[in-house]
Parts: sequence; structure tokens; C-alpha cells
Amino acid sequence: MSTSLRKATSIADLRTLAEQRVPRAFFQYADHGSYTQSTLRANRTDFEALDLRQRIGIDMEERDLSTMIAGEPSALPFAFAPIGLCGMQHGDGEILACRAAHAAGIQFTLSTMSICSIEDVAQAVEKPFWFQLYVMRDRGFVRDLIARAAAAKCSALMVTMDLTMLGQRHCDIKNGLSVPLDITAANLLDVATKPAWALSVWRGKRKTFGNLAGHIKGMDNVSQLATWVSKQFDPTFNWRDLEWIRELWPGRIIIKGVMDPQDARIAAKTGATAIVVSNHGGRQLDGAPSTISALPAIVEAVGGETEIILDSGIRTGQDVLRALALGAHSCLLGRAYIYGLGAAGQAGVTRAIDIIRGELDITMGLTATTSVRNVRSDVLA
Ligand SMILES: Cc1cc2nc3c(=O)[nH]c(=O)nc-3n(C[C@H](O)[C@H](O)[C@H](O)COP(=O)(O)O)c2cc1C
Repeated sequence: MSTSLRKATSIADLRTLAEQRVPRAFFQYADHGSYTQSTLRANRTDFEALDLRQRIGIDMEERDLSTMIAGEPSALPFAFAPIGLCGMQHGDGEILACRAAHAAGIQFTLSTMSICSIEDVAQAVEKPFWFQLYVMRDRGFVRDLIARAAAAKCSALMVTMDLTMLGQRHCDIKNGLSVPLDITAANLLDVATKPAWALSVWRGKRKTFGNLAGHIKGMDNVSQLATWVSKQFDPTFNWRDLEWIRELWPGRIIIKGVMDPQDARIAAKTGATAIVVSNHGGRQLDGAPSTISALPAIVEAVGGETEIILDSGIRTGQDVLRALALGAHSCLLGRAYIYGLGAAGQAGVTRAIDIIRGELDITMGLTATTSVRNVRSDVLA
């Protein structure tokens, strides 16, 4: 492990390292939120506003961080969220992040918008992973994607419902974000100062949308694919489409992007194994509340009917405990592991997991929480 990685003691430190190592356009793509970024900020400030209750005089030698998530054993009460373009934070980023997750006994979700394809990841790892589905206008392509995820033995399908159109991130426009990057003088100069990143991406298996390339008729080069993607997000996507997906995928379905109790009730009635309370990490509806503030009403609405996973804004083990205290069953990490990936590839992702595991473990000890499976709201002050 490099000295800088050893000295990274928090996710904030990994973020700093990632910023130094990854070209600005890709770092900001991961780091920023949509429009004014008010939801991105609320995701953090609302976590930090929740005080934990310090307890003393209780034997806390035994602490159990393991649980089940969507029907699968998990060494920790969190899994990895789907992240588009992981392979642009570090070459083969999806494979490296999946390996780190599996080595730690937790689950990894591959995005539709990944650089490594479903087949690349399946070939490179030993255990099944989850696949995240974006429902595109081209339903034939969606049908094929689902079949490919089944052929790759993915153990759950995570259907993202909060991106039927793209919330704008100003930075992506200003930076000329594309895959590969727009060849502007600023981008060239920036990449020239990030040789370790350039080498890792150059050595990586793929440099474009792995799940798309070669699977869409007449779309051969990267710019054609990028144009296709920009027109494919589907504003007509609705609950009836979910019934169609259910027919194609008889296995476990996780519905991602639930922020409203009314939607949560509908989602629970679809028979989904779990729902993810998520505002896409503050990247979609700017002005939406933080997920941690939206959680209690959703727990009240469907807590007994379906499993509730929460993401958006989790940067510490303390945040994980706060989410469990307010009724989430488990969490997804997004940027927390992406910063690790950008900072140092697989070792950086492992570092991110170690940091959050360590923080959670100590926080459980100091709040007299013996198991992540029975965290009650009285953990909060
Ligand atoms: C760079 C980036 C790319 C993302 N790509 C996807 C994606 O392809 N599919 C998806 O469902 N969510 C995607 N998300 C949202 C994440 O799955 C997750 O909801 C979010 O990152 C959680 O917030 P956090 O980053 O604050 O932990 C992305 C998030 C980021 C930061």
C-alpha cells in the first residue's frame, strides 16, 4: 500500500487523493450534483445534524456487523451502489471495485452505464453480482440486457426509476465530459498531469460503454454511442413497464430511487425484494429532500412490507448507523467507494471499506449497539 493511501484515514482523505489523480472532468462528474447542488449538500448536512447517544458501563466486547441484504448474506450492512463510468475513475474500475467488495464479503452493483461490460465483470470475478437496469426507449435493447444479466448469473436486478431524464450537472457541460474526453486544450493539459490515471485507463479492457458497444445496430464508434445514450432515457417509463420487467426477470428485483411514501407503497406492492430510498446522490431532482430526512415517512408507510435500503450522502460509519437507527435495513455506498477507486484502484476501494467498517464498529461500541440487525431509534440522542 502506498504511503499516501496508508495515511488516508477518512473518505474525505480518499476524495482528496482522487482529486489529485483523476482528470478534472471525471472527478467532477463523480463529485458534483445537479443544478444548484442543494440536495447534494442536504444529503450531508442532514446526516451530520443527527446526534448519536453516547452510552457507558456496558460490556461491548462483542459487536456483529453482519446482516442479510436483499436475501444475501453480507459481512457489513452496506453494498456498493451502481456507478456509471467507474472505468473512467481507474482502468477496469468495475472489475476492481467488484473484487474489493467481494473480498470484503459485500455485494457490488454493476451499472448499465459501466465501462466494463456485464460479461467482462462476470468473467473476472468468482461470485455473482447485482446488475442495475436503466430502462431505455429501445425496449429490445432492455430485453437483451436483462437476458445478458441472467446469463451472467447476476443475483439481483436493481431497476433505477429516478432517471427518466437527465438532471443537469453544470460541470459536465463546462468540462466537455464525454467518453473518451473531448479533446480540448484544457482537458489535454489536465490528462498530461495525471500519468498514472492515463496508464491505468489505457491498459484497461475497454474505453467506452461496455454494455452498449457491439450490441446496438449501426452504432460502432464512441460518439455514435454517446448520441444514442443521450436520446434513450425514457420519460414514458412507468409502473406498467415494471410488470413487463418482472415477467422477464423472475428473480429478485430492487427498485431504486424511491423518495415518497406513496411511491413506496406502489413499489412494495410490485413484490420487489427491496426498495432503495435514493435521490441519486443529489444528481437528479435538485430541491428534493435528503434521503435521511425522507426515510422515516417511508419506513412508516412500507417498513413491514419490503426491505428498505438507503443511499445518498453516506461518507462515514456513523452515517450508516444513523440510517439504520431511522429504519433502513442497510445502505448503499456511492461516492465513498468511488473516491477510493479514483485514489488507488482496488486497494483504494478496500481502504474505503476498511475506513467505514472501522468507524461503524467503534460507533457501535460507543453507542452500546451489539448488532446491526437490531439498531433502534434510541441510538440517536
Ligand atoms: C458518478 C456517479 C454515477 C452514477 N451512476 C449511476 C448509474 O449508472 N445508475 C444508478 O442507478 N445510479 C447511479 N448513480 C447514483 C448512485 O447509485 C447512488 O444512488 C449515489 O451515488 C448515492 O449517493 P452518494 O454518492 O452520496 O453515496 C451514480 C452516482 C454517481 C456519483
